[in-house]
Amino acid sequence: MVIDKKYIILENRHISGRTWLLRIKAPELVNAPAGSFGMIKTTSDYQFDPLMRRAFAIADVEGDEILFFYDVYGRGTANLTTKRVGDYINLLAPLGKRFFPEDEFENYVLVGGGIGFAGLSLLMKRLRDKKKNFIALYGVRRKEQLSMLDWIKENNFKDKTLIYTEDGSFGIKGLITKDLKEIVKDNKKTALMVCGPKGMMKAVVKVAKEIGVNTYLSLESKMACGFGICIGCVVKNKKTNRYDRVCYEGPVFNAEEIEI
Ligand SMILES: Cc1cc2nc3c(=O)[nH]c(=O)nc-3n(C[C@H](O)[C@H](O)[C@H](O)COP(=O)(O)OP(=O)(O)OC[C@H]3O[C@@H](n4cnc5c(N)ncnc54)[C@H](O)[C@@H]3O)c2cc1C
Ligand code: FES
Repeated sequence: MVIDKKYIILENRHISGRTWLLRIKAPELVNAPAGSFGMIKTTSDYQFDPLMRRAFAIADVEGDEILFFYDVYGRGTANLTTKRVGDYINLLAPLGKRFFPEDEFENYVLVGGGIGFAGLSLLMKRLRDKKKNFIALYGVRRKEQLSMLDWIKENNFKDKTLIYTEDGSFGIKGLITKDLKEIVKDNKKTALMVCGPKGMMKAVVKVAKEIGVNTYLSLESKMACGFGICIGCVVKNKKTNRYDRVCYEGPVFNAEEIEI
């Protein structure tokens, strides 16, 4: 059930680069599916600029607390940085209808580029709970952008994560797709779960096609409503030849279905 409510902020702090962490108390949302997202109203009650809420992946659930990681780009996210512990924020969540499949496959390779890794972190926890075999790849340009490193360490995912930096300043030097073919050992029992910038997704899909592995993409799109009304977030579905709403039919799609 989607809930529209104000939640108290427990933490809102800068981590590194342009990334901030937001922690709220939201017992109603502890069962949010991995891959779901929320729309946050970044202004206070009597401010309406920017008018629309902003979309963020539910990055983690810890007890009755929910975690978001957000990169600061424009007015909405800049507003969010002004929120203090004890303030209340309005959140509409959990949103989306299709999420990452957690049970269908034996092996999972999670591929997260930049802040897109926040779209996969809850999935890591859920796969671990289900005792699934998985590995996560986390790729950025340079080490300052590895804003989720502490989260990875604190949650004991160091041995489950391969880190790629394009300039070689941390982890493995190169693009996140560099070792993908070798990592996917059994393409019939394995699936890729991908979240990140469009260019990275395209590169991953290209490799995935070459090796014939199931691939699921968590898409981002400009969103105004977040629940299927404004038709602002559509993506072409190649199978139906129609347009799907990322917020409503997605945000997770089989890579074979859609044009990115
Ligand atoms: C389903 C979904 C989940 C998302 N999850 C996350 C998340 O977990 N963490 C997160 O940080 N973001 C996430 N995003 C992206 C986030 O919603 C946007 O970055 C945010 O809405 C920007 O709002 P703003 O008001 O700060 O910027 P705006 O004022 O809307 O934009 C300001 C400028 O920045 C550019 N811009 C905005 N967003 C981005 C971006 N993401 N990348 C590059 N340029 C951008 C715009 O084109 C514009 O030029 C998600 C988006 C979707 C649809
Ligand atoms: S954001 Fe309005 S339909 Fe998707």
